[in-house]
Amino acid sequence: MAGGPPIVDLVAGARPNFMKVAPVLRALEAAGRLGTRLVHTGQHYDDDMSGVFLRDLGIRQPDVSLGVGSASHGRQTARILEAYEEHLLSASPPTRVVVVVGDVNSTAACTLAAVKLGIPVAHVEAGLRSFDRTMPEEVNRVVTDALADLLLVSEPAGEENLRLEGIAEDRIRYVGNVMIDTLVRELPAARECGAATTHGVEAGSYAYITLHRPSNVDDPERLSAVLSLLERLAERVPVVFPVHPRTRARLEASGLDRRLDSSPGMRRCAPLSYRESLGLMAGARVVVTDSGGVQEETTFLGVPCVTLRPNTERPVTERLGTNTVVGSDLEKAWTVTVEALDGRTREPQPIPGWDGRAAERIAEVLASRYGTPVD
Ligand code: UD1
Repeated sequence: MAGGPPIVDLVAGARPNFMKVAPVLRALEAAGRLGTRLVHTGQHYDDDMSGVFLRDLGIRQPDVSLGVGSASHGRQTARILEAYEEHLLSASPPTRVVVVVGDVNSTAACTLAAVKLGIPVAHVEAGLRSFDRTMPEEVNRVVTDALADLLLVSEPAGEENLRLEGIAEDRIRYVGNVMIDTLVRELPAARECGAATTHGVEAGSYAYITLHRPSNVDDPERLSAVLSLLERLAERVPVVFPVHPRTRARLEASGLDRRLDSSPGMRRCAPLSYRESLGLMAGARVVVTDSGGVQEETTFLGVPCVTLRPNTERPVTERLGTNTVVGSDLEKAWTVTVEALDGRTREPQPIPGWDGRAAERIAEVLASRYGTPVD
């Protein structure tokens, strides 16, 4: 590719990265002023955590696979750092700029590897802060934003947080939310994929659950209390619960999986594809979650969301959206869930840049900074 356009490495590692990378890859290719190289770190590796997302979202097979797999935080981060540095040192053509997304270990590790070699990094979804350093993702966000050259912000609080940290204005760009780009594009197919029928539920009459945060699933006592909430919910409406591998492991280790199976309204299943999950979310009466992205998706869809976390790095989903962050208080979670079941819901307001075109804006910024000049 001698003489070709400068190359941008797009890094994906874990499940929530794929829906953010897909629109950016597409927009960069359409703009044509930068070549693209898709790098998969292998932080997630099961087909239902990775492969199915590439297929669903029409992402090509990765150009580079680092194959790092699961390990403790330090070890996983170190493995990614080492493998990605090796790639950067030998890449041909060389990498002009690295684009990282979100807040997983792959995001922080690849940023560190690139910056140490003098290669600029652009961070998509910059500036989010939960102000809770017990969350591994918060540490990844802070590290990534401190080091990245270009901070591409998805929600209003992000700009404010970066300014308060003293980041220079010329590093910050409010571009909007690429997850919503993917949602807008995939929603018709998601509605048609028949996931509700597959799971034996009817639109508007079930609850949809996602749970995987260490703070909810790693401690058996907390996990048991969360299950009690779900069992109570399953007495009112069917509960569709795709179980994340971390959660599955903790349920099995503590024997709590048997309780789930004895609750008649509970429909637990393996992790779902993007389209199935989106289709089920769009048709749910209420969503109970501890995910970051699901808070945004439900806000865009106008579906009530109960977030089982003490804080959110996405405050706009409470301010203008349908999200209620209930803290560790499961009685409050129940009250808010019942309000949603009874139809006492909030209408979401439009959020700047959540319009399906964030990736186009990102491609423009990247092309003007790093791309081949237009004649
Ligand atoms: C990671 C991210 C989290 C993100 C989540 C989405 C970090 C710090 N955490 O958390 O921000 O919300 O992904 O899923 O980057 N496992 C499998 N198959 C896989 C991947 C993992 O079985 O393909 C199992 C392994 O036992 C592993 C465990 O899940 O130890 C946890 O995986 P890991 O990537 O460490 O963290 P997540 O909880 O998935």
